[in-house]
Formats: sequence, C-alpha cells, structure tokens
Amino acid sequence: MSDFVFSQAERAAVYRAIALRRDMRHFSGGQVEPELLARLLEAAHQAPSVGLMQPWRFIRITRPELRESIRELVEEERLRTAEALGERADAFHKLKVEGIRECAELLVVGLMPDRERHIFGRRTLPEMDLASLACAIQNLWLAARAEGLGLGWVSLFEPNALAQLLNMPSGSKPVAILCLGPVEQFYDEPMLVQEGWATPRPLSELMHENTWNDDPSP
Ligand SMILES: Cc1cc2nc3c(=O)[nH]c(=O)nc-3n(C[C@H](O)[C@H](O)[C@H](O)COP(=O)(O)O)c2cc1C
Repeated sequence: MSDFVFSQAERAAVYRAIALRRDMRHFSGGQVEPELLARLLEAAHQAPSVGLMQPWRFIRITRPELRESIRELVEEERLRTAEALGERADAFHKLKVEGIRECAELLVVGLMPDRERHIFGRRTLPEMDLASLACAIQNLWLAARAEGLGLGWVSLFEPNALAQLLNMPSGSKPVAILCLGPVEQFYDEPMLVQEGWATPRPLSELMHENTWNDDPSP
C-alpha cells in the first residue's frame, strides 16, 4: 500500500461526503458561523484551476432586499423554463428549484473578467475556466456536507441581469447562486429522483473502452 494513503477512517469519510452530498432546496434558516463560512470558502479556494487561473469570485449577499431581488430574477427564469419545457411544464412547476429565502447564507459565484489573457489550457478549450469554477463549488459542496450543512446550486437566472444587479465588471459572468445553511434533513437520493423527474443512469452505461461504442458488448 502506498505510503501516502489516508487511514481507513479518513478514506471512509471522503467517500461518505461524496455519497451523501445532495443538492438541497429545503433549508431551516439559522446561520453559518463566520469561522465555518471562512473554512468552507477556503476549501472552495483550494480547488484546482486551469493554469492556476483561480477564475472564481464569490459575492456574499447580506442585504435582505438584494436577496429578494435575486429570488425574483430566479422566479422569472423559473417561469420561462417552465414555458420552454412544454408538456413537462406542470411537472416542473411542482418541483422546488431553490431555497433562496430560507437558506442561512446566499452566495453568488462568478467568473472573473479578462479571462482571454489566460491561454494555458484554454487555447482550444476556453470553457476550462468554467470547469475550474465548478471544481471550487464542488469542494465547497463536499466540505459543507461534512460540516452538516446543505448547499443548493441554482442556475436558473439570466446572467446579464444578475451581473447588473450585483454591479459586476464587464467581462465577468455570474454562474451560480448558492444557497447554503442548516437543513432539517438531507434527501436520501437526488430530489429530482425522489420527485420522479429524472432517473440516474449507472456508471456502466457511461463507460467505454478504447472507442466510443454505444452498442452492447458482444
Ligand atoms: C451546474 C449545476 C447547476 C444546477 N442548477 C440547479 C438549479 O438551478 N436548480 C436546482 O434545483 N438544481 C440545480 N442543480 C442541482 C441538480 O439538479 C442536482 O445536482 C441533480 O439533480 C443531482 O442531485 P444531487 O446533487 O443531490 O446528487 C444544479 C447542479 C449543477 C451541477
């Protein structure tokens, strides 16, 4: 066994956080202590990033009226999404897709401006800035779960409208509204599965060897 391996308990904790992490939309108010919030944000900030670009920017929303304006933006997009879904609109309307009013902390995560200057790892794949930001959010998500806090990623918003509301510089782009805080309980499985909206596929259906071949193996 490698000299660098974690202890059995440490390994189990890592896999447990991964397995029990859920996207949460039901929160029970309360608060997140400042030291804990700082710890979570540090976890996010330790994420890998293309060319060590660290493209993430965090905006903590503390003004109640701003939180409400953000919720209104999400509500507008929720209605537009329902319309775009056509015959699935009714089922979509029944889903809870955000917990902006009830969560203890609201964070907006955005991509920094002037990203064009960063070419390392992005010349052919400019979206690697977004991938890096997603790594930071995943770190935050897992750390929050280990700390017993829920996190919900909300992407139902018009980015230009949110950027304007938050006075973000030109060239930056908000990518996530994060609802964070205590929850009464974590869903046993993804809420979209519980609600019958989606069915997850097993890993075996998403694996290929040497070539992409969707035909069942002989
Ligand atoms: C990039 C991204 C954007 C998402 N946006 C939303 C959203 O706007 N509203 C929502 O209810 N869930 C959103 N989710 C959560 C997914 O629905 C959720 O991750 C998925 O159903 C699997 O559930 P789980 O995270 O509990 O495993 C988002 C997740 C990701 C990764």
